[in-house]
Amino acid sequence: MEIRIFDDQSELDRYAASLFAETVRRKPDAVLGLATGSTPIGIYEKIVEEHRRGLSFREVTTFNLDEYVGLPRNHEQSYYTYMQKHLFAHIDIRPENVHLPNGTADDLAAECARYDALLAKHPIDIQLLGLGHNGHIGFNEPDESLIGETHVVELKRETLEANARFFASIRDVPTHAVTMGVGAILRAKTIVLAARGTDKARIVKEALQGPITTKCPASLLQTHAHVIVLLDREAGRELE
Ligand code: F6R
Repeated sequence: MEIRIFDDQSELDRYAASLFAETVRRKPDAVLGLATGSTPIGIYEKIVEEHRRGLSFREVTTFNLDEYVGLPRNHEQSYYTYMQKHLFAHIDIRPENVHLPNGTADDLAAECARYDALLAKHPIDIQLLGLGHNGHIGFNEPDESLIGETHVVELKRETLEANARFFASIRDVPTHAVTMGVGAILRAKTIVLAARGTDKARIVKEALQGPITTKCPASLLQTHAHVIVLLDREAGRELE
């Protein structure tokens, strides 16, 4: 596991973006695994800058980690809307190459199977991950056991609280999400985990240097051969 700590926020963003840009330069039809939340916003800005400097995403395919159950694509807090706003509307990616789980599908089990079938056809070259305060990756919440494939998950209270900042009140935060499982995440050839801020310091330490346990899903990343961890000083301050 490679751990890089940055003094400057925009340096972290630029470095993360360069890892994705390099992947696309090397392999124009690369498959990118993408995340939402506050951590990737600056990274997407830098990826858009790479595009403005000439990098094309015409042949790229993307998969997002997760989507809320019950929010239509055009809802302002759907992850589809987030991705349009922060990335897809600003690059030349083909709409048909963009994949997110459909959280409004009538048959969510069938939707999960559809997503897994697509993932099986398009192995992820590089996967971006943020880190939940409870150690979740995607919406794989801490539990006695974890699920490998795409599935519907009930969000933990702490996740609802963390995400309430984007909604009018915590009552408006969807209680369930569709998430890629840890199997698909760990099958990505390269994983880039980004975290920033003092509030992530404890879980960064637990995930990277604590025991490997389903009680901290991000700790499973310790078993992956090619993980690059990008932290600011605050998030990295408890590491030995
Ligand atoms: C988002 C996702 C989540 C977030 C995590 C951290 O697609 O899968 O695991 O990455 O909750 O969120 P932020 O970056 O807002 O702290």
